[in-house]
Amino acid sequence: MAPRNPAEGLPRLEDLGRLHERRVLVRADLNTPIADGRVGDDLRITASLPTLRWLREHRAAVVVCTHLGRPRGVDPAFSVAPVAACLAEHLGVAVPVAPEVVGPEAVSMIASLGAGEVMMLENLRFHPGETENLPGFAISLCAPVDAYVNDAFGASHRAHASVVGPPRILPSAAGRLLHAEVEALGTLLAGPDRPFVVVLGGAKVSDKLGVIASLLERADALLVGGAMAFTFLAARGHGVGASVVEPERVDDCRRLLASGRVRLPSDVVIAEAASATAEPRVVAAAEIPEGWLGLDIGPATAAAYATEIATAATVLWNGPMGMFELEPFAAGTRAVAEAVAACPGFTVVGGGDSAAAVRRMGLDDRIDHVSTGGGASLELLEHGDLPGLEALRASAARGGAA
Ligand code: 3PG
Repeated sequence: MAPRNPAEGLPRLEDLGRLHERRVLVRADLNTPIADGRVGDDLRITASLPTLRWLREHRAAVVVCTHLGRPRGVDPAFSVAPVAACLAEHLGVAVPVAPEVVGPEAVSMIASLGAGEVMMLENLRFHPGETENLPGFAISLCAPVDAYVNDAFGASHRAHASVVGPPRILPSAAGRLLHAEVEALGTLLAGPDRPFVVVLGGAKVSDKLGVIASLLERADALLVGGAMAFTFLAARGHGVGASVVEPERVDDCRRLLASGRVRLPSDVVIAEAASATAEPRVVAAAEIPEGWLGLDIGPATAAAYATEIATAATVLWNGPMGMFELEPFAAGTRAVAEAVAACPGFTVVGGGDSAAAVRRMGLDDRIDHVSTGGGASLELLEHGDLPGLEALRASAARGGAA
């Protein structure tokens, strides 16, 4: 039986009924890079706008909450103030920030919020109840509002209080972004058009073993790049010099190679150090000299991967092909990004570094779906569902609230 699309059964914004002057808590994932007090890549902020605009048009009072980074308790360096400033620019309205996540000041700001106005709570992770999923914290979050929207796809793999708690308490719905993400990734789970080609890169194979095994059940080819390729090359019996290898994962990689659908680099770009000034060399993947590090796929591999991508009906790409932040090792990632953008099939780019790479190259408009969720997209593809989605479906099954 084909797995069902995980978008099925998710309540929609329209299911919340009349929102005029109702206070709506929106759990967004606005966890964005901050540099010098400003948002770096604003993908997650722009992706949250359709839901926020829809709620404003329906005259709701909108209370946005997000986590930012991984602070240990209250830490001003992790304040959401720069995120609120960026959101305010995009929405063209003021977005004041409550100085706390829950408590009297937040409650009073929410109480005085007018129809169509927007505010933010401070970083959810300033409160230990968020990551510990304490029911009391979820109750405090929900007390001053009338309805809840989860639009935080990138955090919906976390069973944290703001993700799984409110659907047990309030009328709840999935936001536009959450729906779009789950629809797009659900297509890959529930019968993708063939050939289905998966391109996986990134640092650690241990993070991706589960999703690789799951994708291999559906994919026609899995093209491997990034540092994780070297654990696969070691599993094939090649010497990999000083490249990053996870020795305890070599046996797992050997089992995955037995599927016959895993493609490994035939050539690689190597250097004596991972530095922008290192002298790169291209060698056969089976001939990395002692002491040298593999830092990108080579040009023959990039061309072979591009050919495979060009003929695919469905492509999923997650993870860079090399250390693309250093120019001498960026060509492989660039070649894959261009091939995915040029592919006429249905194309999805997973979140994190690969999403950042296609945006930096100005190719994101030519990709069918650029996910805002790194870990979340991999977990959805591995398990077919996420705690945040289950919580929303359960809420809908109960008729909207507890
Ligand atoms: C992400 O950036 O992948 C999400 O915002 C989740 O963040 P986390 O890994 O800190 O939970």
